[in-house]
Amino acid sequence: MPTSDSPNRYGAIARWLHWTMFALIAVQMVGGIFLEDLPKGSALRGLAFDGHETVGIVAILLVLARIAWKLSHPGPAPEGTGLQQALAKAGHVALYALMIAVPVVGYAMVDAKGYDVAFFGWSGPDFLAKDADLAKSLNQLHERLAWLLTGLVAVHVAAAFWHHFGLRDGTMRRMLPARG
Ligand code: HEM
Ligand code: HEM
Repeated sequence: MPTSDSPNRYGAIARWLHWTMFALIAVQMVGGIFLEDLPKGSALRGLAFDGHETVGIVAILLVLARIAWKLSHPGPAPEGTGLQQALAKAGHVALYALMIAVPVVGYAMVDAKGYDVAFFGWSGPDFLAKDADLAKSLNQLHERLAWLLTGLVAVHVAAAFWHHFGLRDGTMRRMLPARG
């Protein structure tokens, strides 16, 4: 299983990072939507918030690892015309930016609320003083950016299917496990 990229496929590490991030973001979106509906004061609510914060911090660490890997292993050259390549690149940069911004703003929101940020059994470092107004704005920003990320992922998935079923080029296979 080659860990490095080949001219027409991402290596195993780039693919693992891509699909693991996809799974984490999917879990975080579904979890995030239901967090507020859980009964206040219940053990389940505490557990769900702790879980969302912990998985979100794992996502921050993984996206940083992913960017470091990307900088040292750029991946196969993109398919398509110059304009398609530029659009794909801009879309990917925006996805990376949002993959960082969403969990970082989430962290700052919990920190500004004055709570300890849960990370497995520990609490994450405290950077911000308690500030209810700031926490409220960050809460709104966390929600909006999370939906913006989801919208961009939908466009990204549509583009991936368009390459596969419309253009019938090798773009989708570059991110899928090698067969045979
Ligand atoms: C990729 C990572 C993340 C995604 C996709 C995500 C997504 C979401 C979504 C969709 C919501 C519901 C928003 C709403 O309706 O108000 C939410 C809520 C929340 N998120 Fe995240 N989140 C992520 C990371 C984090 C991190 C790292 C933290 C904190 C360390 C965090 C803390 C929270 C909290 C506390 C809420 C509930 C806010 C409330 O009280 O209304 N999130 N998240
Ligand atoms: C949370 C969801 C997702 C995020 C944040 C995401 C993000 C990204 C990013 C940033 C890249 C660029 C990799 C690089 O730096 O070269 C990429 C590539 C790719 N993604 Fe996703 N992705 C997601 C989900 C998906 C899904 C569900 C599919 C397929 C249905 C998909 C298919 C692809 C393909 C085929 C490539 C390779 C594109 C190319 O070689 O030009 N992604 N993804």
